[in-house]
Amino acid sequence: MDFLSLAQKYKTPLYVYDLDRIKKQFLSFKNAFSGRKNLICYALKANSNLSVIHTLAKLESGADCVSIGEVRRAILAGVKKYRIIFSGVGKSDEEIYEALKLDILFLNVESSGELERIETIAKSLGKKARISIRVNPNIDAKTHPYISTGLHQNKFGVDKETALKLYLYAKKSSFLEPIGIHFHIGSQLSDLAPIAMSVEKIAEFARSLLALKIDLKFFDVGGGIGIAYDNENTIALYDYAQAILGALKGLDFTIICEPGRYIVGESGYLVTKVLYEKHTQEKRFVIVDGAMNDLMRPALYGARHRIKVYRQNHPQSDTQNQIPDTPMQAESLCDVVGPICESGDYLAKDVMLPPLRAGDLIVFENAGAYGFSMSSNYNTRKRAAEVGMEAGKDRLLKHRENFADMVNDELEILYGDTNGSD
Ligand code: LLP
Repeated sequence: MDFLSLAQKYKTPLYVYDLDRIKKQFLSFKNAFSGRKNLICYALKANSNLSVIHTLAKLESGADCVSIGEVRRAILAGVKKYRIIFSGVGKSDEEIYEALKLDILFLNVESSGELERIETIAKSLGKKARISIRVNPNIDAKTHPYISTGLHQNKFGVDKETALKLYLYAKKSSFLEPIGIHFHIGSQLSDLAPIAMSVEKIAEFARSLLALKIDLKFFDVGGGIGIAYDNENTIALYDYAQAILGALKGLDFTIICEPGRYIVGESGYLVTKVLYEKHTQEKRFVIVDGAMNDLMRPALYGARHRIKVYRQNHPQSDTQNQIPDTPMQAESLCDVVGPICESGDYLAKDVMLPPLRAGDLIVFENAGAYGFSMSSNYNTRKRAAEVGMEAGKDRLLKHRENFADMVNDELEILYGDTNGSD
């Protein structure tokens, strides 16, 4: 990919997505489950750019959503309503109301309180709400604690005993239709064993529910399959699918998967530009124009994204930013940091990089998942532009925010007037 030209054309910081690779990832995921009824519901939270979702919708992807905003995005991008599911521990009344009116496939329920709200709202609409219950298998997914969700100490799902009560309650209700069972033990999983154990456990539970005449049709195994950011172990897709298919032998379910990172993670790049080199007595810092507000994963999880350097052709006379008293020829250890006013604002720690000059590019790989979607305006920084590459051609998928985008709403409240400027 010609990042130097892309950076010149669209400026930096910039997200670039390889849409062809996203399609490939989706199709290989889908193929791994062929031979069984399946529905791949791409988890929008990983990357919710409409063009990315649209690319997947054209391949008949469903959508796993965790807010009504994501449900609306999925519909806007062309995902069929009957392929949309709505998960999450804290759905508001308004969200439940809208989801039921939209008639999406089902809602994944995470507590008894939520089930009651859904029943009440369904009753007010004169509808029968299709639901699935998220069962917490109490299995350690062995991933970063912030993204581990399958233990009873986590806020997610309900234990088996509670789930049973909820299923029996729902079966009797005129306004609830329990059609699915769900679990999701965590994200960036690199070990198959906890997933395999969870499927076995939940499949056994599903069998007991069928025996009680609870007419389940969907078995939702969540998402979570990891990618290699650094040298991590990864789970082979074939093994993942076989573990699930094996555990569900003899059960006539449509298998639902909710992959996010696997579909988009490796296809995204964050392109940043070097602003300065700075040397303190103890450390070398490379200061770039991207920051933790653009890519939060290193600051939040200590995540390490592989980086590549693309040098500009500097004219001989350009001495800008060279440091005369610290000549540096070879690669040396440094931190790549952003302009945000926090010491936690780093994008890479202790990496070997050659001497760099203002204008050189540092590209962070594997940034397609949980990159832009977790970005913010912290420090009143504009969120980056997003660009897609398809069949060798680049196109803008989202404009870089401008200053007006960030302040107009507040200006209008303060002065009754906007002052849109870049
Ligand atoms: N389904 C449910 C219920 C989830 O909670 C998640 C992710 C997924 C599916 C998709 O998981 P994936 O296939 O992408 O692993 N911000 C973190 C990841 C948070 C994941 C939250 N839930 C990160 O940057 O690593």
